[in-house]
Amino acid sequence: MRINLSERDLTEPTIIKGDSFLLLKGIPNQSIDLILTSPPYFGQRQIKEGPFAKAGTISDYLRLLKRLGKEFKRILKPTGSLWLNIGDSYRDSSLLLIPSRVAIMLEEELGFILRNDVIWEKRSFLSPSIKNRTSSSYEHFFHFVLGKGYYANKTIGTREVETTLDNGRVVSKTGVTGEDYKRKIELSNLNKEEKESALLSLEEELAKVKNGEISDFRMLLRGGNSILHSQRAKELMEMGFAFIEASSRERVSDIWNIGVSKEKEHDSPFPKELLTYPILSSCPKQGIVLDPFLGSGTTAIACIELKRKCLGFEIDSNYYELAKRRIKEKQN
Ligand SMILES: C[S@@+](CC[C@H](N)C(=O)[O-])C[C@H]1O[C@@H](n2cnc3c(N)ncnc32)[C@H](O)[C@@H]1O
Repeated sequence: MRINLSERDLTEPTIIKGDSFLLLKGIPNQSIDLILTSPPYFGQRQIKEGPFAKAGTISDYLRLLKRLGKEFKRILKPTGSLWLNIGDSYRDSSLLLIPSRVAIMLEEELGFILRNDVIWEKRSFLSPSIKNRTSSSYEHFFHFVLGKGYYANKTIGTREVETTLDNGRVVSKTGVTGEDYKRKIELSNLNKEEKESALLSLEEELAKVKNGEISDFRMLLRGGNSILHSQRAKELMEMGFAFIEASSRERVSDIWNIGVSKEKEHDSPFPKELLTYPILSSCPKQGIVLDPFLGSGTTAIACIELKRKCLGFEIDSNYYELAKRRIKEKQN
């Protein structure tokens, strides 16, 4: 079945019931901006239909992921991204490291570039009854691209660094208050004038942290640093001190603490919040998002909210109906 995207009205999510391995073949080359998905996990017994129902060994599973990876590579635009969430599983008490195996295969065998391994920390995950190991409380969310020119909305993913005050003293993000540096200046081999100038500049630097101009800084003192920072060498030699400043905005980290979804009719739904950053940062406004394992339809719902076009596939009739219902409810 050929899926002609230009003829399709994608102003609302298009969802198709069927097997992704077949449906993906109908998508034209280089037509998708973002593939955002979570395929069935290895050993997931609930899967009754399609190729994953028969993947009994790790090699079978990796072969299927490789087939998918090849199709993903073909249909993604050169600027596109693949955000892939995969859970791990145990067999004979041993953790199988399935996500890592898949990521290495996609990198080494298919040439994907892995930009990030985001850890999704599932805030409200309940510990299993197992008592002789730690509970499993995270999953991997990999961000792959095909080349250096991938689309990235650089305004997404930074946030203002908050300055804290401790008894009226300004404290930088890494706990710098200036006290240590004052001591170091006193003990340094700088001459009297240089020390006065260093103390004055340190106060100015702390004021910059306080008023939000910078979030943090390091102070270098002549003779006090084993590695002489080349770009600062001249300043250090001439003045006796120098500063390295950190911007007042910091990037969102790669550990995301997001609670599991409250949707009860699917066994492994995405929480919607997990999709905000991937969609906003990796899909341009007029772009198309594809989730070939749509499940309860969360990707489509996030796309409605964030105003992106969405195409989704789901093999299971009940989940397909659930996704349709949730999308309709969202649109009303
Ligand atoms: C891990 S779940 C994805 C859940 C989804 N992210 C959500 O928010 O609900 C994987 C889904 O893939 C579906 N599935 C399994 N094999 C499939 C196939 N060959 N083609 C399409 N969907 C498939 C399963 O029925 C299941 O709903």
